Amino acid sequence: MTQDTVKVDSIVAAKQVGAIQFDDEISRKVEALYLTPDVVAQRERVLQALALTTGEQVLDIGSGPGLLAYDMAEAVGPKGHVSGIDVSHSMLAMAKKRCCDQAWTDFRIAEATQLPYPDDNFDAAVSTQVYEYVRDIPAALAELHRVLRPGGRAVILDTDYGSLVIHTEDGPRMQRVLSAWDQHFVHANLPRLLSRQLREAGFMVRHRAAIPMFNPEFEDNTYGKGMLAMMASFAPGRNGVSQSEAAAWFAEFETLGAEGKFFFSLNRYLFVAEKKEKR
Ligand SMILES: C[S@@+](CC[C@H](N)C(=O)[O-])C[C@H]1O[C@@H](n2cnc3c(N)ncnc32)[C@H](O)[C@@H]1O
Repeated sequence: MTQDTVKVDSIVAAKQVGAIQFDDEISRKVEALYLTPDVVAQRERVLQALALTTGEQVLDIGSGPGLLAYDMAEAVGPKGHVSGIDVSHSMLAMAKKRCCDQAWTDFRIAEATQLPYPDDNFDAAVSTQVYEYVRDIPAALAELHRVLRPGGRAVILDTDYGSLVIHTEDGPRMQRVLSAWDQHFVHANLPRLLSRQLREAGFMVRHRAAIPMFNPEFEDNTYGKGMLAMMASFAPGRNGVSQSEAAAWFAEFETLGAEGKFFFSLNRYLFVAEKKEKR
């Protein structure tokens, strides 16, 4: 079996287990959501945690629309390099377009559990909002560890959906829609076990922080409204949720907003880990 066959097989397997497909339409929605000021501020936190310097070699695992890769390429400059991998052709096309003037970037199709790079290759690696879709976390962390040089650092950011707080006056409907949304990822609560899993993969855990996505008003260009719209378009046909029920669920937020009763809060968690130096 060739290396390419192995990669394609595992990508097909990932598509079968993860219900969300990052096709052209979903990729555009993710890009719009990730351009909201809430997610721009989160990216700033990720960049601070990475603390990149000129000339560094960086890997972005699940690079998506390339927003973070673009900022990292600015930070390392033309003497450095940013490599991005992703399983979605739509996302890769967006990232390549976004970074087309940064010749020191490259993007290719690959699985988080089979990184196409030699050992000890990168100064830093990052993966934001990706591992929740990856079934085999120990395999993904082993790969992350392998491709980092000794002393290299990894920054991981993921959501714990147990932290989701949304006000509603129709609890049963909320429950049905959220249960449908649960099908879009593999791990709903990845952050709570990640410290342990990073240490088991050989990392030293250096820093952890919670990053709340908090929107107490129902407003355009916020993470909360964009996320609820994504949930409303994902839910129909899952867990018995119909198109009209999902639309009514979303419409409630307009009403709650007008009445001053809208509330959306969801935590993302940031981890900084370091690969031990060789003795
Ligand atoms: C929510 S997006 C996040 C994109 C980007 N990391 C960001 O924060 O802007 C999730 C991305 O992970 C990618 N992805 C999902 N499963 C993956 C896997 N097993 N290996 C590599 N990428 C994966 C998706 O195709 C998608 O581009």
